[in-house]
Amino acid sequence: MAEAYKIIDHTYDAVVVGAGGSGLRAAMGIAEAGLKTACITKVFPTRSHTVAAQGGIAASLGNMGPDHWTWHMYDTVKGSDWLGDQDAIEYLCREAPAAVYELEHFGVPFSRTEEGKIYQRAFGGMTQDMGNGPPAQRTCAAADRTGHAMLHALYQQSLKYATDFYIEYFAIDLIMVNGECKGVIAMCMEDGTIHRFRSHAVVLATGGYGRCYFSATSAHTSTGDGGGMAIRAGIPMQDMEFVQFHPTGIYGAGVLITEGARGEGGYLTNSQGERFMERYAPHAKDLASRDVVSRSMAMEIREGRGVGAEGDHINLHLNHIDPAVLHERLPGISETAKIFAGVDLTKEPIPVTPTVHYNMGGIPTNYHGEVVTLRDGNPDAVVPGLFAVGEAACVSVHGANRLGSNSLIDLVVFGRATAHKIADIIKPMTAHSPLAKDNADFALGRLDGYRFSKGGSPTSSVRAQMQKTMQANAGVFRTAEVLSEGQAKIDAVYQRMADIGIADRSLVFNTDLIETLELDNMIPQAVVTMHSAAARHESRGAHMHEDFPNRDDVNFMQHSLAWFRDGGVTLAQRPVHSYTLTDEIEYIKPKARVY
Ligand code: FUM
Repeated sequence: MAEAYKIIDHTYDAVVVGAGGSGLRAAMGIAEAGLKTACITKVFPTRSHTVAAQGGIAASLGNMGPDHWTWHMYDTVKGSDWLGDQDAIEYLCREAPAAVYELEHFGVPFSRTEEGKIYQRAFGGMTQDMGNGPPAQRTCAAADRTGHAMLHALYQQSLKYATDFYIEYFAIDLIMVNGECKGVIAMCMEDGTIHRFRSHAVVLATGGYGRCYFSATSAHTSTGDGGGMAIRAGIPMQDMEFVQFHPTGIYGAGVLITEGARGEGGYLTNSQGERFMERYAPHAKDLASRDVVSRSMAMEIREGRGVGAEGDHINLHLNHIDPAVLHERLPGISETAKIFAGVDLTKEPIPVTPTVHYNMGGIPTNYHGEVVTLRDGNPDAVVPGLFAVGEAACVSVHGANRLGSNSLIDLVVFGRATAHKIADIIKPMTAHSPLAKDNADFALGRLDGYRFSKGGSPTSSVRAQMQKTMQANAGVFRTAEVLSEGQAKIDAVYQRMADIGIADRSLVFNTDLIETLELDNMIPQAVVTMHSAAARHESRGAHMHEDFPNRDDVNFMQHSLAWFRDGGVTLAQRPVHSYTLTDEIEYIKPKARVY
């Protein structure tokens, strides 16, 4: 098979796949440590989806009131509904302030307080004093374009180091030998050439798989390519049933209106003009955690109090806020509300609806970014040579529900931690072991399979069926009946992959082929999401199972693992880490989660 292609070989110490916040931070750190580093990305780095992050990055700087990393940790554990690993959460929250100051020194133009400190706003679920105090202003912001500012600063920084960027290259598959990762096969999308990257470490920083759903704030490129590669390499996915719906996607368009809008004083109303969050979360109200707010909105709509002609959305008000504040703090959403909803937010409410936004689940890793799997009874067995960071990974710091602004901090803290780990274990220019002759056959066989397939199902039609199925059967509210129907439907969508037909057989600028490979990455993740959801007989965080409305810590305070092999799903559980890293904080014991 591989003989049919002229493969161009590259040799590196480490290869990072993806150039969003986590990929760039990892690549930068690895190159800084003197390792020969490549970064492969299917889009130009500053077009990665991190660019779309709006409201900010969480760190207990304490610029706007008292704060402490242990308070941040408490909120994150509670936000995760006790499914997050507390060693990893401690690492995240403790390292967060230094990571934000590092970004400041890299040139991120944070908004400022009167005294010139980094401006911090309130975000959902962030409180003072281990949940006992008032809301904490912990989310560091560059107006409402924080991800944009970060991504540009990180790209500029990474150019200082000797990372080789392979831009508009699509990673097809990992090179795995006896369970160890030895590199990656990729295709240059411009000219169709095939490239083999030998590497002692491959870091998957490919983002989430939000585009499995019909309505998502995610970019069209958020197709979970790293997850697809990991699944094909025999690695299980973790906690895939936990899909976050952001409360405020613009109705009809799916475009994000930042939670920072509520952090600056915005609020939600139903068709009766009622601020209904006061009923569902009497203390935190509109700044309860996202799963709680999204569910409350869905309840209002379900009970006939939605707004609009079809009563199917909710109003977000910012029109009571001083226009000068909106202009200074929320310029981006002022523009998007106008463009995508035709609304002048200084005068009218924005029509919003819960919209798929983030995958808490992903490739299981420890807090060093090393991919782990269940092997020989060891639930934390490391997969040598393979790392994952950012939304592609499940560290797990977000557990069953991520708090807003904890994803940007996750990117840089674990991007840096992964770089440190790789620098610790790999010596620059270590020789590579020889590979078997057929090492590229798996990747190229898959490529050829789609390139020459002549079936009757266009990629776009299979993708649409997957997206509609996920939207209808793995939504905010789930029941055994809906999930069981969903399993049958998504399995049937998977079967259609054997009948894909694409029109263009060339490798050069063949967007149909790339979209088919992306779909082939998404479908197994959609399948394991549905099957993992059907198997979790409890309600926790973003997984609201109406037949099992309570959290069940006895049977389900466990990560779910899901393997996808030969069209079938195998499920197992992995213990949640119920220990901290240091004696500075004790394990935070589970309790009822109210806001
Ligand atoms: O609402 C937002 O600005 C999104 C932030 C996040 O998902 O962390």
